[in-house]
Amino acid sequence: MTAVIELDGLGKRLGGQTVLDSLALDITGGIFALLGPNGAGKTTLVSILSTLMRPDSGSARILGHDVERDAARVRRHIGTTGQYAAIDEALTGRENLVMIARLLGLGTLDARRRADELLASFDLAETANRPVAEYSGGMRRRVDLAASLVLTPAVLFLDEPTTGLDPASRARLWDAIAARAAEGCCVFMTTQMLDEAEALADRVAILQGGRIVADGTVDRLISLVGTETAVLVDEAGEVRRTLGATGDAGALARQLAGLAEEDHRLHLELRRPTLDDAFLALTGQPGRTAARRDSREVAA
Ligand SMILES: Nc1ncnc2c1ncn2[C@@H]1O[C@H](COP(=O)(O)OP(=O)(O)OP(=O)(O)O)[C@@H](O)[C@H]1O
Ligand SMILES: [Mg+2]
Repeated sequence: MTAVIELDGLGKRLGGQTVLDSLALDITGGIFALLGPNGAGKTTLVSILSTLMRPDSGSARILGHDVERDAARVRRHIGTTGQYAAIDEALTGRENLVMIARLLGLGTLDARRRADELLASFDLAETANRPVAEYSGGMRRRVDLAASLVLTPAVLFLDEPTTGLDPASRARLWDAIAARAAEGCCVFMTTQMLDEAEALADRVAILQGGRIVADGTVDRLISLVGTETAVLVDEAGEVRRTLGATGDAGALARQLAGLAEEDHRLHLELRRPTLDDAFLALTGQPGRTAARRDSREVAA
């Protein structure tokens, strides 16, 4: 099976430093989220994969086409959010989308129909006939994202797609991304919002120091930094007793059976590292002790 996205020893230096250090990666489909601290090289990688920047060494292929040698063919299969330049401030939201659809080869009627569908799905129908110059930042961002979805590309690159969006727009965009993926589109996205990666991604990789330092499902990344543990906490949320890993049901049952009278006033909580914890631990940054809480009262 041809990998959808394939990196082989991909390297890039910028401003005298190694930004991407001999990256190897195979993505066969689904939603892939690339995480990493500021300056990790996420945008650089997206730029190379969407043919906007050349690698210095190694190679990258999209559906078997080399991003340098077959750039034109690669462009035919991809959509990207790097289309800011295509948005014309003087035109309305609708005119922009119709123009982009026409440039991508749709007929007049189809272009209008597609523009209206996108305007509706990004909640831009009401402002569609105002010039983009009058739009707020989040509204512009939505036009920009709608523009990347005019065609249904085989591969969609989204660099921090929800930055600057309000919660409702963010939820709508998540739905749009999930819908594209369900249609078979491979989505390669970067994000700083770990809840976003958790909600959407089939696979997550963390880029740091030019290398991928962790790669797998969200659950796998979380399991790298700890396991779910059952604890008893008091009213103030202080841990009074650690019962043990929830994976060890026998030991946990023995602990619960042996609880003393005063323990019954405490709450049982399951504490599991979050993707935030995993991100901070795997990128070697000092962490907070954020823990997802699933709390339940122990029989009173
Ligand atoms: N044109 C350029 N010239 C020199 N250095 C650059 C250039 N573009 C990016 N860099 C450097 O390359 C590194 C990676 O930048 P990049 O934009 O890819 O990071 P990022 O992971 O997308 O960060 P962020 O989370 O802030 O968006 C940074 O150190 C940046 O300063
Ligand atoms: Mg970036």
